[in-house]
Amino acid sequence: MSYKEFSYFYDYFNYNADYDKLFDKIVSLASRRGVKTGIVCDLGCGTGELAFRFDKAGFDVIAVDNSDEMLDVLYDKKDELGADDVLILKQDITQLDMYGTVDLFTCTFDTVNHLEGAGKVQALFDKVSLFMHPDGVFIFDINTKYKHTNILSDEQFDFIEEEADCHWKNTLEPENSRTKISISIEDKHAKEKYFEEFYEYYYELRDIETMLKKAKLSMVTLIDGETFGPVKPDSRRYLFMVKKEQ
Ligand SMILES: C[S@@+](CC[C@H](N)C(=O)[O-])C[C@H]1O[C@@H](n2cnc3c(N)ncnc32)[C@H](O)[C@@H]1O
Repeated sequence: MSYKEFSYFYDYFNYNADYDKLFDKIVSLASRRGVKTGIVCDLGCGTGELAFRFDKAGFDVIAVDNSDEMLDVLYDKKDELGADDVLILKQDITQLDMYGTVDLFTCTFDTVNHLEGAGKVQALFDKVSLFMHPDGVFIFDINTKYKHTNILSDEQFDFIEEEADCHWKNTLEPENSRTKISISIEDKHAKEKYFEEFYEYYYELRDIETMLKKAKLSMVTLIDGETFGPVKPDSRRYLFMVKKEQ
């Protein structure tokens, strides 16, 4: 599922996200596997918070998303930052097509949960495996089942800000292993209201492991995606680093 008008407010309401911390962790994990430069492809890149950090750090960056609105924001940021070398591709990441191999694939902030079910996640893993350099790594996160069923479940979050308000409502659908997310935004300047709805799907850890194995990807590191410490029963996010099976 790709974002629509919410894209224009994504950064505005995402002020709690610590991209510097995430970026540093990804760079340190990848460098432990010897991936310190080269081509990085950020899948479901959104507004490019990670992609532009990679560009600044000297990687050759490919940023992929399939939302026209996210890409609008991305192109504006690219101009503002003068990040001329960042290659932006509009693609569905489950049908990824690359010109060559990639040293580091990333896919963060629950992009994997946004794919419509296990078949799509498998398709993503298969594509990553196909286009990843034999010595490359894939670093991605997912929101855990624990977070969906204990934290997000049927909660409403209200963000009241100067320029816009955002009301975020979750509806847990345990029979489908997913949460419906309904977002209403009121743009106070433009006096416009927007509404969009999408699903985040959740998985058991063993299901993700099975899909990775099927794609011939093997686990290098699995840590808690928020603390970067060991995974716990109440971890809200997992952060994975996987490599190609040799
Ligand atoms: C929660 S946002 C995360 C954005 C970014 N990775 C970040 O860390 O801020 C999810 C992003 O994935 C994109 N997305 C979802 N499904 C996609 C698909 N099948 N192909 C490409 N992009 C997708 C959405 O458009 C959105 O930009």
